[in-house]
Amino acid sequence: MSAKSQAQHPFIGKVRKFLDKKAPAEIRKIIKEAGGDRIPDPSYPYPEEMKSKDYDRHMEGLQIQLVRMMSDVIATGKRVVVVFEGRDAAGKGGTIERVRENLNPRSAYIAALPKPTEREAGQWYFQRYIDWLPARGEMVLFDRSWYNRGVVEHVFGFCTDAQREIFFRQLPPFENMLVDDGIILVKLWLSVGRAEQLQRFLDRESDPLKQWKLSAIDIEGLGKWDEYTAAIHETLARSHSLIAPWTVIRSDDKRRARIAAIQTILMAVDFEGRDPEVIGMPDPAITGGPDILV
Ligand code: ADP
Ligand code: AMP
Ligand code: MLT
Repeated sequence: MSAKSQAQHPFIGKVRKFLDKKAPAEIRKIIKEAGGDRIPDPSYPYPEEMKSKDYDRHMEGLQIQLVRMMSDVIATGKRVVVVFEGRDAAGKGGTIERVRENLNPRSAYIAALPKPTEREAGQWYFQRYIDWLPARGEMVLFDRSWYNRGVVEHVFGFCTDAQREIFFRQLPPFENMLVDDGIILVKLWLSVGRAEQLQRFLDRESDPLKQWKLSAIDIEGLGKWDEYTAAIHETLARSHSLIAPWTVIRSDDKRRARIAAIQTILMAVDFEGRDPEVIGMPDPAITGGPDILV
């Protein structure tokens, strides 16, 4: 394909421009000093990515455990829902791919709903998500979820405050019903720091294989970090419960985050062949409850 026939992605250059003109000076400094090859956020507990040898070895064991887990889910008719949430570029997509890569797409599949259609906008808010809940022997990985109303819809004004309050009121009974009916519900919040998020957007901007990931929301959201922070803290505070707890995973290092996410899933499902030694415990330095949000 010639360069001309390739449509230029509409947002190229906007991230760089934001970084140079509008980002807080300390974030700009952190990104510059990290130079793209360190974990930029100084508050992240590790300065560098996990070594690929350690990652590969652990990940292989976890993948085998996931395959066993799914055999058990199918054999015993379990139903599993995993909700992946987090800011733009938090690493949801990549983590979901690692969970799913060795599983049968018929029994372990992704629900990544687009923005609601006119018709869906006129329904009960939870209605379209219910269509995607698992049947016996299935695991559904939600790439974003009903939590849109707590965060992105609020930050961008896609819902009214009254609609959001109704959402928060209906949320506990909704999730309790899923769990009461026997669904195993795992809620993962990937928490990325601002410098790392900006670095990932810069990478998306310069990599033709990643440019498609850059959305209008990502660009318009660049200046809304603090609004997101407030909406996220409120949402997690109002939706973290004994029955449906959040696991927050700091995801500045994608490798550590993917491992912690898969460990959390494997620990939530009681399956034949589960091997605690292979799985290990999620790293407490990056895994916890809403209190570890950045
Ligand atoms: P993603 O980060 O999942 O690739 P986007 O950054 O484009 O997607 O959008 C973030 C989320 O906001 C998505 O779940 C999308 O469906 C939702 N969203 C975007 N526009 C609207 C809208 N007008 N009303 C409601 N939700 C929206
Ligand atoms: P669109 O041109 O379809 O992307 O929508 C333009 C604007 O309409 C969006 O930026 C939103 O503010 C609003 N909008 C579109 N769809 C929805 C929806 N389902 N719910 C709430 N707001 C919406
Ligand atoms: C990802 O990194 O895959 C994301 O969390 C998707 C996004 O940009 O919203």
